[in-house]
Amino acid sequence: MTERSGFSSKVGFIAAAAGSAVGLGNIWKFPFEVGESGGAAFVMVYLAFCFILCFPLMVTEIAIGRKGQRNPVGAFVALGHSKWSFIGKLGILSCVLILSFYNVVAGWCFGYFVEILSGNFSIGEQFPDFVKDIIKVGGYSFVFMVMTAFIVSKGISKGIEKAPKILMPVLLIIIVVLASYALTLPGASKAVEFYLFPDFSKITGEVVYNALGHAFFSLSLGLGAMITYGSYLGKKENIISSAVAITFLDVGIAFLAGLMLFPMVISQGLDTHGGAGLVFMSLPGVFGDMNPFMGMVIGGLFFLLLSFAALTSTVSVLEIPVSYLVDEKKMKRSNAVWLTALGIFLLGIPSLLSNGYSSFFSGFVTYFGASDPTDFMTFISDVASNSFLPLGGFLIALFAAFVWKKENLFEEVTNGNKNFTNTWVAKFLGFSIKYLCPWILGAVFILNVLDKFFGITLYY
Ligand code: PHE
Repeated sequence: MTERSGFSSKVGFIAAAAGSAVGLGNIWKFPFEVGESGGAAFVMVYLAFCFILCFPLMVTEIAIGRKGQRNPVGAFVALGHSKWSFIGKLGILSCVLILSFYNVVAGWCFGYFVEILSGNFSIGEQFPDFVKDIIKVGGYSFVFMVMTAFIVSKGISKGIEKAPKILMPVLLIIIVVLASYALTLPGASKAVEFYLFPDFSKITGEVVYNALGHAFFSLSLGLGAMITYGSYLGKKENIISSAVAITFLDVGIAFLAGLMLFPMVISQGLDTHGGAGLVFMSLPGVFGDMNPFMGMVIGGLFFLLLSFAALTSTVSVLEIPVSYLVDEKKMKRSNAVWLTALGIFLLGIPSLLSNGYSSFFSGFVTYFGASDPTDFMTFISDVASNSFLPLGGFLIALFAAFVWKKENLFEEVTNGNKNFTNTWVAKFLGFSIKYLCPWILGAVFILNVLDKFFGITLYY
């Protein structure tokens, strides 16, 4: 099989895949999930899931993609197991759902960049009205989708690997600087205690489901993003070290983002249970308290870089359905890109309306008799990231362990190096894929769905 054109180097691949992983998930979603789900206890469960389940799954996804040299549906066919290609189809559904709400938040972020540049530091207090101004916010998210589609239409190596190589280090630096600054703010010690000292009694079923869903979401797993990017990775490159780099970068940036944010939240007199608005409500005030020029530069740069980080993620999500339509349905790349982007933008409109504009979508009642009403955006996130992604991970693990088999997985991971099988990394990978992932993911998926959608709580 011929190798498809792809990333120009391993660093390019890591940059693009880490670009996919690092995004709003790290800086917007992670802190608000921590705030909602019990602080440090959530952080611990999340970290455990990242390393024990998600890292092995990342290696597996990249290996499936590189072996199959195709999109997430075609890759299973190319491996000779076309029955399992439904996993790829589930992944595409998850992509569509995730991008539909992610793009709305990316639009907020881009809008904040514009507001802060124009010196509006009270935008944090105006957040509830800002998100209700749907013409404005809808416009920003439309622009965002157009930018995403434009990059994806350029094709993988040209559009996707260059920007994160430069922008990710800059984002990292600014977060480190802001975190150091935040730790000098009044109330920082209270924040650190909330964030880093776990109260294990806070670990409930809900915390576990959210932590698992978030680990998948943040590492872009369970929907074929890493299968797709893996399909563009050169045969000689080392999958394990790439996956280690991606995982550490992603988890590291999320961790620092929390360290930056909680002192700011507390010093601004806000509640850690701020929900989806947490980052957007607390940061502008902190920038506003700096000297006006500094506030504008640092604040503007922060939201600009966050928009870029979101863009390298949206690009990776859109690339999945597009690569499917191009490979399998023989569509022209540009048609596939613009059609999919438009469809997903339209599908995002209920999420756009669900932050106070429309009472129907803000208090959405879905759950077959279960739970309280929630906003539509949270509902989609519950369905896609907390349910479909772990389900996707569960199926990928089953496939790799019992259908494709460990030997083939290892062969692809190491390019046939037999010594690998005896290393502890290999033993851990094999154990996790065969025993930990199927059982844990399967069990958490079932418990979560029963609890969230049917009101049957088996585990508190
Ligand atoms: N991981 C991205 C983030 O944290 C979001 C994402 C999810 C990207 C799924 C691709 C696939 O922002």
